[in-house]
Order: sequence, then structure tokens, then C-alpha cells
Amino acid sequence: MRILAIETSCDETALAIIDGTGDLSSPNFKVIGTALYSQIETHKQYGGVFPAVAKREHAKKIVPLLDSLFKNSPISFSENNKELTNSEKNILKNLLSREPDLYETLINFIETSKKPDIDMIAVTMGPGLEPALWVGINFAKALSIIWGIPVMPTNHMEGHIVSVLKQVEDLDKNKTDISFPGIALLISGGHTEIVLIKNWGEYQILGATKDDAVGEAFDKTARLLGLPYPGGPEISRLADIIRQNNITQSQKTMAEIEAEKIEIKLPRPMMNSGDYSFSFSGLKTAALYLIKKLEQEKKLTQEVKSRIAFEFETAATEVLLSKTKKAISEHGAKTLILGGGVTANKYIRDIFSKLANDNLKVFVPERELSTDNAVMIAIASYLKSFIVKPEINPEIIASGNLKL
Ligand code: KG4
Ligand code: ZN
Repeated sequence: MRILAIETSCDETALAIIDGTGDLSSPNFKVIGTALYSQIETHKQYGGVFPAVAKREHAKKIVPLLDSLFKNSPISFSENNKELTNSEKNILKNLLSREPDLYETLINFIETSKKPDIDMIAVTMGPGLEPALWVGINFAKALSIIWGIPVMPTNHMEGHIVSVLKQVEDLDKNKTDISFPGIALLISGGHTEIVLIKNWGEYQILGATKDDAVGEAFDKTARLLGLPYPGGPEISRLADIIRQNNITQSQKTMAEIEAEKIEIKLPRPMMNSGDYSFSFSGLKTAALYLIKKLEQEKKLTQEVKSRIAFEFETAATEVLLSKTKKAISEHGAKTLILGGGVTANKYIRDIFSKLANDNLKVFVPERELSTDNAVMIAIASYLKSFIVKPEINPEIIASGNLKL
């Protein structure tokens, strides 16, 4: 089955075409083409993602992206350009009434592009920023109406879980290694969840954050340290300086020696709560007080900032690790899957990869599939197609808090 997937839940406009084959017990995926536009540069100016800005950017970029995806992918087209009738144009105009610019560019594109040989369109319906989600949903519905292709509404978090299947296909020999039950640790800018995977499509959330997501805490703490958005990679970069610092005491600079004298300790919130809940806003607040205090004492040097980043990354990782291990042992998991933007963090990837043993396989997505992308949405929609039949122009409502 050839799938065109659309992902606009946050600040990446992402499209992908993949071929899905095989049944639920051994699905296979081949990526035919991808196109992605990251809005990070736009959001940097504001220090975070504003939904209205994200929506505007998606609406501006999605048609040119589809155009480039079609031009750069080895796909076939079955019908010639389509001259839209006035009634078709009216239907699309109504559908895209909140995205008038998108309507204009889409009409131009459709009238100059042939119908692609695609069997299903997958689109993220949630969770995410609703104004941003609506752009993808309405775009998917418009294409569905024009080309008569059915649409599968897809859960973004399921996408993060199944993104490792792309990798498994690449490493063909490992294909049978995903056995159930499995545990997924989903860590991103919007989510921190531990999920029990009974089978593909059968998930149970064991616990989640009560306040900030772990990526959000990385980003907020980075901001307190005066680092640019998104702060996760910046914290990780500073923390790595300390982690890799294997020089001897005598080789250290005065500033490094001074920084080491300062006690930098952050809490591990809820680490021993006995359940799978998280709270990362407490960690961020503790970082806030520490940074303020050191600032007042004029001790917040670059070296001290790196040590805070190191302590923050260590604290967050310890909490994630402790709860994940508990879930693995309590549920006899045979597989651990990591997903979400924070798995791009090198330290976290390393620490969790080390959990692998004869009884536990660990899958960490490729870096490009850790952050938001459309390949994962295509994979999730393929798995879902065994359970739910996609429809042409279905009723879909963007759901900011959609649960697994
Ligand atoms: O999954 P994602 O791309 O978008 C959401 O759905 O949220 O995750 C983005 C999050 C951001 O909070 C970003 O700071 C964090 O992932 N992130 C990292 C790293 N790279 C991205 N956090 C820690 N270390 C990293 N290297
Ligand atoms: Zn995500």
C-alpha cells in the first residue's frame, strides 16, 4: 500500500510517501520520499512556538512541499491534470475558509499536477496544537476530495512509538525482534509518557507527566541559562562538555576549578513515587532558584552554566530511567522503544541503549525520526488500516489532547 502522510501537529511541516507491505506480525516499510520544512528559525524570534504562527507557516509551506515531494520522488501518476469545476472549487473554498492562501496555492497546484498513484492519505489528528493540526487535516481532506483517495486520521504519539519500524526494516535481519509486551518511553516537547504496548494498535498509558513535559523542561531551563530555542540540544551540548572532560586536575583552568567548588545539585522529582507519573516543572523551578542565587552571587560563569546543564540532564535522565526500568520489570517487557524529540539527546540514547540484554531488545529511532516527521505517521496509519477502514473526505476533528 502506497501512503502519502501529512504531519503538522507542531512546528514541522512534514510530508512522506512510503510503501507498507506485510501483515501486523511482520510489517515492512520502504520510504519513497520525504519533504520537511522546519519552522524553528521563525519560532526562535519568539522563544517558543505560538500556535497561530505555526498555523500560518504550515499553510504557506505545505503546497510547495508537496510539489517538491512529487518532483523528487520516484512515483507514478495515473491521470492527467485536473480542471476543477466551479462546484469542486466551492467545496474546497468552504473547507479551506480559514486558510485562504492555502486555497489559492492548492488550486494552482492541482490544475498543473497529475493524480499520483497513492492508495491512502494519512494525517495527524492529534495530539498537538489545534490550529496547526487543522491545516494538515483540511489539506488531507481537500486532496481526498480532488483525487478520490481515502484518508486515515492518525495519532501523533502512535507515530513516535512505531517510528522504530522504519529502522527495523532497514536492518532487515532484526525484523522479528520486536516482541510484545513492550514498553515505550515517549519523551518530547509536549509529552512524557510510559506506555505498555500489548500489540501494534493496543496501547495502555501507564503514566505521564503531571505538569511540564521533559523536553519543555529542557527548553525552559535552557532559556534561564540564556541559551537559544530550542534549548534541549543546547543543554545537551553544554552537558557533554562536562561529560567528556577527562583532563587532569592540573590541566584545568582557574574558572573550571572555581566552578567545581560550587555545589550544584538538583532534585529528582517523583523518582521514588512508586508509580509512573512524572513532574518536570519542579526540576525546572529548582534550576530557576539555583540560577538566580548564583547570578546574585555573581558566580554564574560559562563553566558553572555547563555544570548546571550537566546536572539537569543527569537528573532528568535518572528519573526517566528509573521509571522505565520499573515498567519493564513489572510487565515482563521483551522490547523497549524510545520515541519523541528528546531521544535525539545523545546521553539519553546511550544510557537507554545499555539496557539491552538477552531478554530485552531496545529500539531507539534514527535521529531524523526522533523528532516530528511524516514517515512515522505513514507507518502508524498502515498499522491502523488493519483495524479501521480509511474513508474519502471523512469527518476529522483536530484533537489537541488526543490519547493513545
Ligand atoms: O518530538 P518533538 O520534535 O516535538 C514535540 O512533539 O514536542 O520534540 C521536541 C523537543 C524539544 O523540547 C527539544 O528541545 C527536545 O525535543 N530535544 C532535545 C534534544 N533535541 C531535541 N532535548 C534534549 N536533548 C536533545 N539533544
Ligand atoms: Zn512529536
